[in-house]
Amino acid sequence: MKTRWYKNAVIYQIYPRSFCDSNGDGIGDIKGIISKLDYLGELGVNAIWLSPCFKSPNDDNGYDISDYRDIMTEFGTLDDWKLMLKEIHRRGIKLIMDLVVNHTSDEHPWFQESKKSIDNPYRDYYIWAKGKGKDGKKPPNNWTSNFSGSAWELDPTTDEYYLHLFSKKQPDLNWDNPKVRKEVIDICNYWLELGVDGFRCDVIPNISKAKGYPNGKFALALKGTEHYVIGEHWEEYIRELNEQSWSKYDTLIVGECGLVPYDKILHISDETNGLLDTSFSFDAVTSDYLGFKLPKLKKIFKKFQSVPKTCWTSSFLENHDQPRCIPRFAKTEKYRDRAAAMLGTMIFMHRGTPYIYQGQEIGMTNCDFKMEDYKDIMSLNLFKEFKKLGSPFLKFAEKIWRKWARDNARTPMQWSDRANAGFTTGKPWMVVNPNYTSVNVEKDRASNFSVYEYYKALIEARKTVVNIISDGEYIDYCISDKTIYQYGHKLGNKILFTQLNFSEKNITVHTPFVVVKNAELIISNYTTAPKDSLTNNLKPFEAQVYLIEL
Ligand code: GLC
Ligand code: CA
Repeated sequence: MKTRWYKNAVIYQIYPRSFCDSNGDGIGDIKGIISKLDYLGELGVNAIWLSPCFKSPNDDNGYDISDYRDIMTEFGTLDDWKLMLKEIHRRGIKLIMDLVVNHTSDEHPWFQESKKSIDNPYRDYYIWAKGKGKDGKKPPNNWTSNFSGSAWELDPTTDEYYLHLFSKKQPDLNWDNPKVRKEVIDICNYWLELGVDGFRCDVIPNISKAKGYPNGKFALALKGTEHYVIGEHWEEYIRELNEQSWSKYDTLIVGECGLVPYDKILHISDETNGLLDTSFSFDAVTSDYLGFKLPKLKKIFKKFQSVPKTCWTSSFLENHDQPRCIPRFAKTEKYRDRAAAMLGTMIFMHRGTPYIYQGQEIGMTNCDFKMEDYKDIMSLNLFKEFKKLGSPFLKFAEKIWRKWARDNARTPMQWSDRANAGFTTGKPWMVVNPNYTSVNVEKDRASNFSVYEYYKALIEARKTVVNIISDGEYIDYCISDKTIYQYGHKLGNKILFTQLNFSEKNITVHTPFVVVKNAELIISNYTTAPKDSLTNNLKPFEAQVYLIEL
């Protein structure tokens, strides 16, 4: 059944709330997406990953689902969604939906039932435990939530705690209950029958928790992860889901695999193991937490570019949880467009399915937020915690967080230089990045060199060399160099050679080949790169890709 189409695909992620608003209420919606499908078709992407669009009270912008079979009121109706799918498929594009089944919303009817009494038929759909301490008023263990504070919330009706690895409005489902697993299988089959082409599985490593919920070891944040990341029954549960749903359709199943060690990532995304098709590892996009160092990043890529042939990976620098990539990995304002194109080249000339996050294709950047601009629950909870410590701490948190907030990825898509970047005719739900007057789709499409035009060319270019990238042996030519990344994928007597300048300077590089029979330029973000011979001069943030015959 599986054609593994995703190995040659380019995937575009839409965060619906911030993509395009069709009715002026300030919130992106499905009709807005439909109105931009021609745009995506012209860009040349093969599939769309749509962040959650299901019914939700929006505590975590749709990652808290209250009805898995219906569409969020603000986004439209199921009929709108069906029309969108038809329009997507008509353009030869596939649709990947977000599967958020580690937890539901606390407003989901299952949880509403579950909390009513300890003998409610839905009680075991969630994870309940008695409190600790003499009065039972201490949480069952020391696990912390991803969004600050304890991972347990006391519910007064039955005086027991429930587990929530994210916000307290996102109670974790109990996957040890076969009824829960059956529900998830049914949900998957429901959408697959409607025609979707796969799922991006939200925090999927977390579904199997250690028996007895033991305390986590000391950690500054995320205490307890060792007791639930790819837990004891994980494989069994995923294999069951795969057998009873995913494998029956020509799907792409990509798991969000934060905190999963490399060897386990290989195991769970190996096509011979019947688990996931591929995964998102976060090693690259967490490598700069203590400051960006190119050699460190290259070491990570080296591992992921050299995975076994049966294993498939994803190539990305951005998504709705990540700050924008230019300020992180290029740190330039002057060369924003060249740098955006250079980083895009790196993603596209790596093995694995490349992902573009909305706005990345025009080089959108982080936003200089004021305190009142933050909307993400993760930011709001964090500020609450720091506020308790006093105002110097809050100021400190604010300064650091501006750079790391997920809000950076969620400012509205910049379509034009009209009011609100052309995203809405109303008041946008979230502040628009003021640089929209110079960074926007309309402007990019009207100019000769722009990030958008480059991405378009990159998508075309990748098609011509995808077999070498996918099957070639990866070689890094200067792994400890701090500003230059030179690497290749070698297949037979051909090498696809990529060289990237991560600095604002002109740099003379060492060329790793003494004699080449032939060199053909595949793509560069400067017009000065020679068409049929290698050069050792790289301009600021220049990217060059050559197909070399030895
Ligand atoms: C994933 C999502 C993130 C969400 C969290 C909880 O990490 O990408 O946006 O907050 O899961 O569902
Ligand atoms: Ca709207």
